[in-house]
Amino acid sequence: MASREQFSSRTGFIMAAAGSAIGLGNIWGFPTNTASNGGAAFVLVYFVMAFCLAYPALMAELIIGRHSRSNIVTALRFISPNKATRLLGTGVGLYGVLIASLILSFYGIVAGWMVAYLLEAVAEMIGWSEASHWLTGFSFERNVLFMGVFMLLTMSIIASGIEGGIEKWSTRLMPMLLVIMVALIIYVFTQPGAMEGLRVYLLPDISQIKPALIIDAMGQAFFSLSLGVGTMLVYGSYLSNKENLPKLGVAVTLVDTGIAFTAGLLIIPAIYVAQHNGTTIFAEDGSLIAGPDLIFQILPSLFDSMGEIGVFVAFAFFALMTIASLTSSISMLEVPVSLAVEETPANRRQATLIIGGLIFGCSTIILLSFETLFGFVIDLTTVYSQPLLGVALCIFTGWIWHRNNLLQEIKAGHPEIEGTWFWKVWPGYVKFFCPVLILMAFFQSVAG
Ligand code: PHE
Repeated sequence: MASREQFSSRTGFIMAAAGSAIGLGNIWGFPTNTASNGGAAFVLVYFVMAFCLAYPALMAELIIGRHSRSNIVTALRFISPNKATRLLGTGVGLYGVLIASLILSFYGIVAGWMVAYLLEAVAEMIGWSEASHWLTGFSFERNVLFMGVFMLLTMSIIASGIEGGIEKWSTRLMPMLLVIMVALIIYVFTQPGAMEGLRVYLLPDISQIKPALIIDAMGQAFFSLSLGVGTMLVYGSYLSNKENLPKLGVAVTLVDTGIAFTAGLLIIPAIYVAQHNGTTIFAEDGSLIAGPDLIFQILPSLFDSMGEIGVFVAFAFFALMTIASLTSSISMLEVPVSLAVEETPANRRQATLIIGGLIFGCSTIILLSFETLFGFVIDLTTVYSQPLLGVALCIFTGWIWHRNNLLQEIKAGHPEIEGTWFWKVWPGYVKFFCPVLILMAFFQSVAG
């Protein structure tokens, strides 16, 4: 077998893993979830969930991945001690691959909208109003075209492999993302109305913490850290044995939650600036408008009201969204592609082409019956499957994998770990606490 590719540096890995984590989930999902769950109280619970539940699960994926040096299916088989658990590993792994692919098939549609709005800003700049009209209209043709463009971008990066594709592009795009975001925040803060938004965002009203909020915060944390479907597992499999995994996991969690928090500093004040400029920001039931209307109506109307500079702000904003989506979509596509490359005779290019084509087909089907399928696929993947897969991975780590091998793997790259709290707490924590808590929250949400 040809030697397996690896990330060339620690920074490269952090950029790639943070790139996967930081996406529409942070810049759109987190602020809108915050808005519809009563503001700062949600932010508080989200941080608790991210560090107490999502971080331990992230560590499980990274550790399994680096130990087995393979895609999720092969990895779960590899750590299984007997035939029955190997079969279970194959089942869970394949389900994870399916869910990662389905997430990409709706994510690609949404990312396509971002590309269309990005081009719309360009069309505005050059005064091409007919094109601008078409680009923002919700037609099947526009949706398929830009979903396809976005899929091609994703595929071209994945076809170039780990170092030359994922690492290179994450390292280029992530700093750009940060610069655009900070520039936008500075601009929005100078606008009237921004401070009102900041207050809603930062001053928690503890009475808002209800079961629904806790479940939303957990789902948000799992989606945001790309958990359950084998993305972090496969990224971990490209890490060198010299790296200190618990530390890298903390870095990724901190960057991801930090960017989500920063995105909130942009989006929530922007909503209130839009209100100040005359846009309605509350729905009929009194809640803040949070869904697609927020991104595709409230914010564009804000950009319009800014005069000359508005179209440049719009361009920057949709560039930010496109970049964030791309560094996430590549990590989703890597899940099935790594399986195909390692378990079939296909090479990386062929695998990318075939799987990318299949996912394009899935997205097209979703677009064909958008009303029924779009919401259904999102719920199936993110609300139901991701938490359950998270539980399955905790069970593999805590109950199925031989404990000595697990401890050995944690020690690699961090020989003094035995003195740390991570060593003392984490193995028992993922074994008992995580699965029970995730399941409790899950059944609460399903029952509710
Ligand atoms: N974490 C990504 C985001 O916040 C989404 C994602 C989910 C990426 C699952 C990979 C796997 O947008």
